[in-house]
Amino acid sequence: MPVPAVYDAIGQAYHRTRQPDPRLAQAIRTALGDVRTVLNVGAGTGSYEPADLQVVALEPALTMIRQRPVGAAPAVQAVAEHLPCADKAFDATLAVLTMHHWQHRAAGLAELRRVTRQRIVILTWDPAYQEAFWLTTHYFPAILELDVPRFLSLSELARGLGEITVQPFPIPHDCQDGFLGAFWQRPEAYLDPTVRHAISGFAQLQPAVVQDGLAHLAGDLASGHWEAQFGWLRQQTSLDLGYRLIIASR
Ligand SMILES: C[S@@+](CC[C@H](N)C(=O)[O-])C[C@H]1O[C@@H](n2cnc3c(N)ncnc32)[C@H](O)[C@@H]1O
Repeated sequence: MPVPAVYDAIGQAYHRTRQPDPRLAQAIRTALGDVRTVLNVGAGTGSYEPADLQVVALEPALTMIRQRPVGAAPAVQAVAEHLPCADKAFDATLAVLTMHHWQHRAAGLAELRRVTRQRIVILTWDPAYQEAFWLTTHYFPAILELDVPRFLSLSELARGLGEITVQPFPIPHDCQDGFLGAFWQRPEAYLDPTVRHAISGFAQLQPAVVQDGLAHLAGDLASGHWEAQFGWLRQQTSLDLGYRLIIASR
C-alpha cells in the first residue's frame, strides 16, 4: 500500500553517508541466528540484509527503493502497519532504525509478530538515554523533543513483543553508518549538510533551529570550548548512547 513517505523527501542522498557498519552488521547477523528467511521492514537502501539469508525488503519510500544496489534482495513497497504477507510467512523479521518513523508503532509490532515464525530483531534507541549525548543535550535539544516521544521505551516494546532480550550496541568511534549518534567523536561531521541530510532528526527540524545549533557548535569547536568539555571522548573507542538490539523469540 503506497503512502506518502518522509524518506521520499529526505532520503535522496541516503546511500552517500548511510553505509552499513560491519560491527553492527555482525551483531545483527548473530542476533538473527539460525533462520533462513527474513523480512526486512523499513529496509531503506538495503543495509544489514545478510547475504547468506533469503531476504525480502519492505519499504514505503520509492526514493529509498531506487537506491538499493544492483543484486539487492527484492523490495516491496508497503508499510509496517499493513504487511502484505501471510501469517508466519518468515522465519525472522528485521527492523533497523525504522520503528520511530511508523505512524502506528503498536500496529506495526503486532504485524511483525503476526508474520514471524522464529525471531524478531529490532535496532532502536532507548529514550531513557536522552542525557547521554552531547550533541542533543548541548546543541540540538529540539532533536530530543522530536525523538523522545517517537522512540518506544523498553517496557512499551515488551508490551508489544512479549519477552525481549536487550543488547546494548555501543557506537564505535569510527562508525561507518552515519546515523545521529555515529559521529560522537567527530563533531565536525555534523557541520556537513550531506551528513545532516541523511539523519531524520536534523532533516525534520525547522531550518532556523538547525542554524542556531550549528552556529553554537561551530563556535565551540573554533574556540576550543568543545574540546575542553568533551575532548576526553577522543580517547574512547566506543560509546553507549542508548542504541539497543531488541530480540524477541516466538
Ligand atoms: C533511518 S531509515 C533506516 C533504513 C534501513 N533500515 C537502514 O538501516 O539503513 C528509516 C526507514 O524507515 C522507512 N519507514 C518510514 N515509515 C515506515 C513505515 N510506516 N513502515 C515501514 N518503513 C517505514 C523509511 O522510509 C526509511 O527508509
